[in-house]
Amino acid sequence: MLLVSGSLRSKSTNTAVLRTACAVAPEGVESVLYAGLADLPHFNPDADVDPLPPAAADLRNQIRAADYVVFSTPEYAGALPGSFKNLLDWTIGDDLPGSIYEKPVAWINASPRGAANAHESLHRVLDYAHAAIVETACAEIPVTTAMIGTDGRIAEPSVREQLAAVLRAIVAHGQSRTDDQPST
Ligand code: FNR
Repeated sequence: MLLVSGSLRSKSTNTAVLRTACAVAPEGVESVLYAGLADLPHFNPDADVDPLPPAAADLRNQIRAADYVVFSTPEYAGALPGSFKNLLDWTIGDDLPGSIYEKPVAWINASPRGAANAHESLHRVLDYAHAAIVETACAEIPVTTAMIGTDGRIAEPSVREQLAAVLRAIVAHGQSRTDDQPST
């Protein structure tokens, strides 16, 4: 499972949420917090050719290697942060098996202010990418800076339980899809 924060801020609440999610992932599910957002070049279709810029290739490799992707992003000025939209733009052109296309994805909305525009936009972009949005796994889990401990994680049991439920839901969706496949 790949966890992707839309914030570059060192004390980001969204990154803390995903760092905490890693700590409560279901047993047997390897979770990786994506750390390459700052390294991605500006998306340019001219650069979307072989060989890709290394950071873009690494992003696509990490998505392909993951069975599920979970996002958590802030809203900036009524929209997705530019750097995060840039990341999403880099995912679109990947036509190799395992790309964002039909990948089970979900998001955690950690904003105490709702951040409705950013999440509507995230929904629209992921629809456009033909990702398999697992609506039952998407959750609003408001988090404040004060809830983040010195280890960069959230200790609050109710938050940890809600995060664990998100991960359980997306994994359960993936397993039910596998069960639906013909056994040939
Ligand atoms: C914000 N913030 C914000 N919040 C919101 O709900 N709607 C908005 O339009 C904006 N706009 C905005 C613009 C700018 C420039 C900043 C710096 C902040 C608040 C922001 O989403 C909030 O502080 C998040 O907690 C930031 O996420 P991280 O960095 O804590 O993950």
